Amino acid sequence: MSPARSTAGCPPAAEMVHATSSLLLLLLSLALLAPGHSARKCMLTGKWTNDLGSNMTIGAVNDRGEFSGSYLTAVADAPNNITWSPLLGIQNNTVRQPTFGFTVRWNFSESTSVFVGQCFIDRGGKEVLKTKWLQRLSVDDIDDDWKATRVGNNDFTRMHTVQNEDDLASPTSATTLEC
Ligand SMILES: *[C@@H]1O[C@H](CO)[C@@H](O)[C@H](O)[C@H]1NC(C)=O
Ligand SMILES: *[C@@H]1O[C@H](CO)[C@@H](O)[C@H](O)[C@H]1NC(C)=O
Ligand SMILES: *[C@@H]1O[C@H](CO)[C@@H](O)[C@H](O)[C@H]1NC(C)=O
Ligand SMILES: *[C@@H]1O[C@H](CO)[C@@H](O)[C@H](O)[C@H]1NC(C)=O
Repeated sequence: MSPARSTAGCPPAAEMVHATSSLLLLLLSLALLAPGHSARKCMLTGKWTNDLGSNMTIGAVNDRGEFSGSYLTAVADAPNNITWSPLLGIQNNTVRQPTFGFTVRWNFSESTSVFVGQCFIDRGGKEVLKTKWLQRLSVDDIDDDWKATRVGNNDFTRMHTVQNEDDLASPTSATTLEC
């Protein structure tokens, strides 16, 4: 069966090779997770703020790329009425710098906005969401339809630098090679 029996307490050579290649894979994946490395993928999950001081919080992105969250705008026609409003969107969750879209249904006024954008990871490893939006306002008369849509740009950055996964990971299994 397993002929290569090594000295007391030590695994057979084949297992040593296996353990060594596992360690190499672990080190390789840690290297790939390093901040700013090209393998890191942008996910929209988290807290973001934009150039106007508006904030949004996006929940987990599911395996179809769908997400939901909340948006708190810094600007509105009736600023005293602003409250958090729900958002719903979808992103490509397989590429490094995905495109995405989401809708905000303002719940303090009868108005809806759609954002489209792309998440970029700049050379310093910092994520930025470059977006354009359309806002549909409600008008009482169809004759006012011509003036009911606004357009704009926003750049979002992550609000809190949450600790990176690679800071939390530690190569604990190294001790298994001390034979
Ligand atoms: C966004 O969050 C920051 C930090 O908590 C806060 O100072 C700012 O007032 C928030 N923006 C709005 C529009 O409430
Ligand atoms: C507004 O939207 C938020 C979600 O961000 C929700 O928690 C809240 O209940 C909504 N309020 C109303 C009045 O619809
Ligand atoms: C995301 O983009 C990649 C690369 O262009 C593409 O192959 C894939 O089908 C896209 N969509 C999803 C849902 O991953
Ligand atoms: C703002 O809130 C007040 C008080 O609830 C309300 O009377 C007013 O219509 C609201 N304004 C807008 C633009 O929704």
